[in-house]
Amino acid sequence: MSLMNEIHYELRRKKLLDSLEEGVVILSSAPQKIRSNDTEYPYRQNSDFYYMCGFKEDNALLVLIKTKEATKSILFVEPYNEEHALWNGARLGIEKAKETFRVDEVHDINHYTSLIKDVLREHIALYIDLFDDSSWIVQAKNSAKELHETRGVKRHIRAIYDVTHLIRTQRLIKSQEEIQLIKKAIDLTAKAHHEAIRASNAGMYEYELQAKMSYIFLSNGAACEAYGAIVAGGNNANTLHYIDNRDVLSDGDLVLIDAACEWELYASDITRTFPVNGKFSEAQRSVYEKVLDVQLKVIAAMKPGVKRDWLQNYSEELLCQALIELGILSGECKTLLEEKAHKKYAPHGIGHWMGLDVHDPCPYVDDKGESLRFTPGMVMTIEPGIYIRADDVTVDEKYRGIGIRIEDDILITEDGYENLSAMIVKTVEEIEAMCMGEVL
Ligand code: GLY
Ligand code: MN
Ligand code: MN
Repeated sequence: MSLMNEIHYELRRKKLLDSLEEGVVILSSAPQKIRSNDTEYPYRQNSDFYYMCGFKEDNALLVLIKTKEATKSILFVEPYNEEHALWNGARLGIEKAKETFRVDEVHDINHYTSLIKDVLREHIALYIDLFDDSSWIVQAKNSAKELHETRGVKRHIRAIYDVTHLIRTQRLIKSQEEIQLIKKAIDLTAKAHHEAIRASNAGMYEYELQAKMSYIFLSNGAACEAYGAIVAGGNNANTLHYIDNRDVLSDGDLVLIDAACEWELYASDITRTFPVNGKFSEAQRSVYEKVLDVQLKVIAAMKPGVKRDWLQNYSEELLCQALIELGILSGECKTLLEEKAHKKYAPHGIGHWMGLDVHDPCPYVDDKGESLRFTPGMVMTIEPGIYIRADDVTVDEKYRGIGIRIEDDILITEDGYENLSAMIVKTVEEIEAMCMGEVL
């Protein structure tokens, strides 16, 4: 049974309407996408739409209306259809949607076109996702513009606003129920990483480790990976978005795995890097321990009130210092940071919000453009990495081809943080013991 219930969605809609002036909000479901010819990608609902109503079908719209006197919520859905039920499965339909969702009205999506112009005629503002190019939203925008330009209409739309910022600001702070769903995703992801660490052997293919992890996700009920899995042996780890996963794993190399599952639309996002043959070389170990040290220090600094920007700068200082200590960079840390010299080996940010989307599109700055301060309920990944390409002749040969990232999912709590993925092995000793088959 889902942890979320209709009351949660109703409260979110109320909060959204409380945060805006009079007007009409229209949110659309995600389109069904064609993969090739007449086969489709597995369907995944639009996160903002889902956050506001919990409806998982396509061809649906949520319309929220706010006047000075009252509010109204309307869900537009596809009616039940025998043909669709035969080929693709039964739709919930209008009557059942009325029974299930705590909205004021449920209508047939096919009536949206004729209804929306009349709805907009009565109101002064339209709130939409400005980047949504679905025909419903384009139609609403066009109707609003037409009404705006029509003389003699008593009350008509005066402005079109973006609604996503308001929704995504709500999405920043996760409820207890959302945290439970993220934890469930992480639990399965932890099992999958441990399985990969135990199974790894020279001569295996990257995709074999991916398959072992996918088996754990799917056989335990997760719908899918939260993002395209990265299983990168050796120098492949230095391609940040390597998702080919077709190479053989070589003795003496590391393998970087950035893979995680989605549970009830909530993501997890975990990276571990370990030796293919179970034993870190001296050079691999020294880089690994630097990355781990940076990660632990950054996580330890997380607590309410700390600015996300400060954490980013702090992580860059730590990574730059680590690169100096390894002998990969030389010079004054301050100067190297100013020159952004560390970016060659540590090019990406320290982390991102995570929730319904693996890269949750919640704001990073407040309305004044100031970096947000951490607040209990926020979830952010912490994922420092050092990447040294095999063809980088400016670096000592022993380091070439090493790419290491360590990533955990961190919840901000009242008095600090909780590492939601703390159960996944991470020290050199733990990883080597697990590779050797020791039960941890
Ligand atoms: N897995 C994507 C990321 O770490 O941001
Ligand atoms: Mn990440
Ligand atoms: Mn990741």
